[in-house]
Amino acid sequence: MTVDLGNFHIRTRVIFGLGGVSALGQTAVETGAYRYLLVADPALQSLGIVDAAKKSLSEAGLQGETFLDVEPEPFLDGADGAAALGRSIEAQLVIGLGGGSAMDTAKAAAVLITNEGSAEDYIGLGKVETPGVATIMVPTTAGTGAEVTFTAVFTNRQTRAKGGINSPHLFPDVALLDPELTVSLPPDVTAATGMDALTHAVESVTSRSATVFTEALALAAVRLIGQNLRRAVYHGTDLQARENMLLGSLLGGLALADAGVGAAHALAYPLGGLYRIPHGLANAMLIPHVMEFNLPAAERSFGLIAQSMGEPVEGLSTRLAAAYAVDAVTSLCRDIGIPSDLSAIGVPRADMDTMIQSALKVTRPVENNPRHLGESEARWIYEQAFGGE
Ligand SMILES: [Fe+2]
Repeated sequence: MTVDLGNFHIRTRVIFGLGGVSALGQTAVETGAYRYLLVADPALQSLGIVDAAKKSLSEAGLQGETFLDVEPEPFLDGADGAAALGRSIEAQLVIGLGGGSAMDTAKAAAVLITNEGSAEDYIGLGKVETPGVATIMVPTTAGTGAEVTFTAVFTNRQTRAKGGINSPHLFPDVALLDPELTVSLPPDVTAATGMDALTHAVESVTSRSATVFTEALALAAVRLIGQNLRRAVYHGTDLQARENMLLGSLLGGLALADAGVGAAHALAYPLGGLYRIPHGLANAMLIPHVMEFNLPAAERSFGLIAQSMGEPVEGLSTRLAAAYAVDAVTSLCRDIGIPSDLSAIGVPRADMDTMIQSALKVTRPVENNPRHLGESEARWIYEQAFGGE
């Protein structure tokens, strides 16, 4: 079996390299804007990264405001708050500086400036009618790939349901990637966000919507992440490892934007929505078990993943090679300190029925998964993630 040829298009201009944040002002000028809204992770303030971004913007002659009220696993009202500030200053450009939370908030704010209503009105697929203002994304984690995707994910503060605004109008105009911005990430965040990126790549390869384009991108991402994540976790200042991780995350993002993700993401959503488990950590704890579950339904894809992870698969049958992929990802998780029991991070096993019902509502990833995911299948995977029987 081969993958579909399919279509592929990239909307985002990608600028990759050291010193990128100092080029932010010039890049902003090139969008034609002169009033900006900067949406930034507040943790970046003490590192001087927010000031560096503002300096570059003001030196290029732009004026604007900074929105720092970005929570991890953001709520919908955060996007509304950012949009209100953007509307009040008539921002023509929104910059997202941070991890997925800051970038998703920025992407949503950009379309809420030009569309009426609140973020909640646009949860779903294709509900945004008018293009937003210009956007530049500057990731400071190597994980979400949000700098090139058309999705912004939020949790409803009341219902705790997690959902995405999905619209072609959310594709950022520019992704400005500077590996130096990721050097200060602590090991646990590097590990969790890096595993999010690997999960994007693995789930893009095995997705029912995969094409030759997404497969090539995703396998390159698997290789980069497989070869560099341990080094990025344990030698955080290794710029080469950081650069390769950021590139891997970008390629994974490009792949998932077209191929979509699978069961790990569907099952991770309730953990973020109900218990505030960071998205990357939730994926990291699920992906080895999802891979074990998917193995018989995606042997060819898993063989390719094993090869890209550097496993000794030459001369092996497809089935044996595929099994190496599960081992490789399981060992990687163990090596970088990903916990192996969801109860250890505060997820109550007694809530499993609620989690299952919630996960199965995440339609697109469930449908993209290579093996049918129903109630009993979701239960089996969650049980493994609670450390098995
Ligand atoms: Fe993700």
